[in-house]
Parts: sequence; C-alpha cells; structure tokens
Amino acid sequence: MTVISSSPTPLATRFGDVDALQQALRGADYLADRAVCVALFVALRLGQPLLLEGEAGVGKTEVGKALASATGARLVRLQCHEGIDVNQALYDWDYQRQLLAIRRAENGGPAGAGAASADLFGREFLLRRPLLEALESSEPTILLIDEIDRADDEFEAFLLELLSDFQVTIPELGTITAETRPVVLLTSNRTRELHDALKRRCLYEWIDYPTRERETEIVRTRVPDAPEQVVARVCDAVARLREQDLYKLPGVGETVTWAQTLLALGPAPLEETLFAVLKVREDVERVRRERLLDGV
Ligand SMILES: Nc1ncnc2c1ncn2[C@@H]1O[C@H](COP(=O)(O)OP(=O)(O)OP(=O)(O)O)[C@@H](O)[C@H]1O
Ligand SMILES: [Mg+2]
Repeated sequence: MTVISSSPTPLATRFGDVDALQQALRGADYLADRAVCVALFVALRLGQPLLLEGEAGVGKTEVGKALASATGARLVRLQCHEGIDVNQALYDWDYQRQLLAIRRAENGGPAGAGAASADLFGREFLLRRPLLEALESSEPTILLIDEIDRADDEFEAFLLELLSDFQVTIPELGTITAETRPVVLLTSNRTRELHDALKRRCLYEWIDYPTRERETEIVRTRVPDAPEQVVARVCDAVARLREQDLYKLPGVGETVTWAQTLLALGPAPLEETLFAVLKVREDVERVRRERLLDGV
C-alpha cells in the first residue's frame, strides 16, 4: 500500500474550519457544496493531492482558481493534453542559450571551453515548466493539474513520484524536493479511468451537478444583473434538460452563459437561444422537435 507522507500546506492555517473555507470560496464567487469543501479542507491540512472528477462544466477547474483568489496564493496551471511530456510539464533546456554559450566558448569568450561543457546542463540553462515552478515556488502555491485524463499512461506514471513525495528527478540535476508543499489539485472529466496508482496518491471527490437551489445561487452570483425571473427560468430549463438522455448535458458554465444570453437579448423564446447551452446538433434538434422546453 502507498503511504502518503502528510505535511500541511502553508494554506492550511488560513482556515479554522470547513465553514471558514466555504465562506472564503464564496467570497471568490465560488459556491462549493459542503462535500467539496470538506475534501479540500483535509487536502490543505494533510498536504495531500486532491483529485476532482465530474462531468464537463461542473466547476472543477474553478475550485483551483477560486482557492487562489480567496487566499492570494499563486496559481500554477498545467493543462494536460494527449502527448504531453516531461519537457512540457516539468523542465526543458534552453537550447538557444546553450548554443550561444558553446559559440562563446569556442571563441574563447568568458565562459571558457572547459567550463561550458560542464555547465551546459546547469540551472542557468534550465527552463522551468509548471510542475517545477510549483515545486520550487517559495510562496504559497496551488498546482492545478487540469484534465489529467487527456494525458496518456506514461505521463500519469511520471506523476507518481511528484504526487507521493513532492519531488521530481531531473537526470542532470538530481532530485528536487519541494520545500514549501504546494496544494495539488487534479481534475478529470473521466473520459477514461485513471490508474489506481495515481488515485491511491490522492484524496478523491466527485463533483456532481448542483442542486436547483445552489445553481440558482450560482447564477445570481455570477450574473448579478439578471432579474430573478430570468434566473428561475434558466435554472428550470437546465434542470429539465438534465433529465433527458442528451449526448451532452449542460454544465453550470452553460447555465451561467444562458442567463447572460437572455439578459443581453431581452425577452426571447428559449428555443431560440439553445446555442448558449447545447453543443451537439442532435440535442438541439431533439429539444425543438419534442418541444422539451415547453412551459418553462
Ligand atoms: N460552484 C460554483 N460556483 C460558482 N460558479 C461556478 C460553480 N461551478 C461552476 N461555476 C461556473 O461554471 C463555469 C465552468 O466551471 P469550470 O470551468 O470550473 O468547469 P469544469 O468542471 O472545469 O469544466 P470542464 O470539464 O469543461 O473543464 C465557471 O467559469 C463558473 O462560472
Ligand atoms: Mg475544467
């Protein structure tokens, strides 16, 4: 079994209890449900990574942004994608500067021929990518590893050392360990199952669609100018759509955009504004054909 070493992050002391954390996120316009706050609170206290899974647009990425905004911590974001590798995520060498140094050395410049070859893979030529930035950051830092399910197996395996020991190994430099532990948040849309080895190194929370009540509050917060009638109409319509077997259900982001759309247009039939909320042609056609939003 993997035993995760625990050591609080600098942000741990900012919040006396879960309620305080929830309030702080609310202050950053993020209305988290209690379960997410409990998991996040413990992640800060134990200094363990937190994996947030959920459907598209339920507010996974926003957790990291809101926490950064609520605490003033630095947010370092690594957007994962197919084929992402160590050189994009951790470090790379500044080849141009290395080349210049070699030229200088060849011309008998200040670097000196002997020194150049030894130092070419030294700190001076190192380019820090997000993971290294976060590990070496001396200020409170949130490392958001976004959409880890888009990366491939190899990259996931590479992350294991970082997630369990907060350290990475760079062959030319050795092992680098975080002196100040960043808060590590990972998100996944669950387009594929993540490996057990990765999951075991993280606390885990599934973010669900919000209740009708919380979604109403979210829209009120995010679109403060929207009349109450628009807020209610949009939330009712989204709730109705989420009951259907659509290809892509609307996330919270879509609810917010729908309210903004209706605010911009003034009174408009919902069927005319589906572009704000449905992103699959068949879904749009079905909602119109079957008059699924009638009466909302
Ligand atoms: N709990 C919340 N409180 C306030 N706003 C929220 C909340 N959840 C979602 N939102 C709104 O929804 C938008 C989308 O959220 P976010 O980008 O975090 O979703 P996501 O789960 O990361 O989606 P994806 O899987 O597509 O990346 C945010 O910009 C924000 O406006
Ligand atoms: Mg996201």
